[in-house]
Amino acid sequence: MPVDRCICHDTTFAAMRPFIIELRERGHDDDTIFDWLRSQTGCTSGCGLCEPYVKLCIKTGRTRFAPIPSGTTTQKSRP
Ligand code: FES
Repeated sequence: MPVDRCICHDTTFAAMRPFIIELRERGHDDDTIFDWLRSQTGCTSGCGLCEPYVKLCIKTGRTRFAPIPSGTTTQKSRP
């Protein structure tokens, strides 16, 4: 089953995508886009499991991902 959303806040990566594009066009980098998405959608602020997928979405534009095996990423890298 692909990962396509932040489950805690029921926000799909596809719904985040237009904001990513707009922020990128305004010159924001990956980190500031991540911070904006987190503040506006709450993504990554619950269990934190969606963080690597949100970062991949920002970096690649993809909105569906194969699950990343547990123990291969760090979670909740930000307070
Ligand atoms: S799945 Fe996004 S914070 Fe839990």
